[in-house]
Amino acid sequence: MPHLLTLCGSLRQGSSNRALLQAAAQLAPPGLHLKHYEGISELPLFNPDLSDTPPPLVQALHAAVDAADGLLIACPEYARGIPGAFKNALDWLVASQQFPGKPVALFNASPRASDAQAALRLVLRTMSAHLVEQASVTVNLLAKGMTAADIVADGQVAEVVGAALRAFELEILLGEKVDASLAGLRGG
Ligand SMILES: Cc1cc2nc3c(=O)[nH]c(=O)nc-3n(C[C@H](O)[C@H](O)[C@H](O)COP(=O)(O)O)c2cc1C
Repeated sequence: MPHLLTLCGSLRQGSSNRALLQAAAQLAPPGLHLKHYEGISELPLFNPDLSDTPPPLVQALHAAVDAADGLLIACPEYARGIPGAFKNALDWLVASQQFPGKPVALFNASPRASDAQAALRLVLRTMSAHLVEQASVTVNLLAKGMTAADIVADGQVAEVVGAALRAFELEILLGEKVDASLAGLRGG
């Protein structure tokens, strides 16, 4: 069964982006499992000198990304850019062997946050992520104080989130089939 690692760009307790990811875990199709990465606030500041022998928490991040079939990111906009804590996590992944080609979808909890979304796309493409646009959606949770349960109960938002997750699952399954066919061709 494919599994997504979810990453939240906000460290805030009542984060709308975290609530969106928690709701996504409940709205995922039966064949798709979502697991949340909790360590963003604990990561040391990125230092290229440590890239060859990364600290244990960074090794754990690399392992979690490696194990995931795809990454689901929900990240707010701060000062028209990517929050520093989240960019720090991405910087630790730049030189990792696990990241290139990894399917990534962006969930955006605020229609106003277009600059951060554009910056994320630029950074992720630079990192050779496989951006799954059909699974990347914007919903309006800004300043609404909605919990995950509120989001699940909101028919309109739940439908958008559910459809995006189904599209993400399909993309991952298609990618696995292509990989298997290529492996078969190479083997034969
Ligand atoms: C320091 C700071 C800077 C912000 N800058 C922007 C901004 O440039 N553009 C924007 O649309 N919202 C901005 N916001 C609003 C946040 O993106 C918004 O509150 C969002 O819901 C935060 O995400 P969260 O609920 O997941 O914590 C800013 C908020 C903070 C705290």
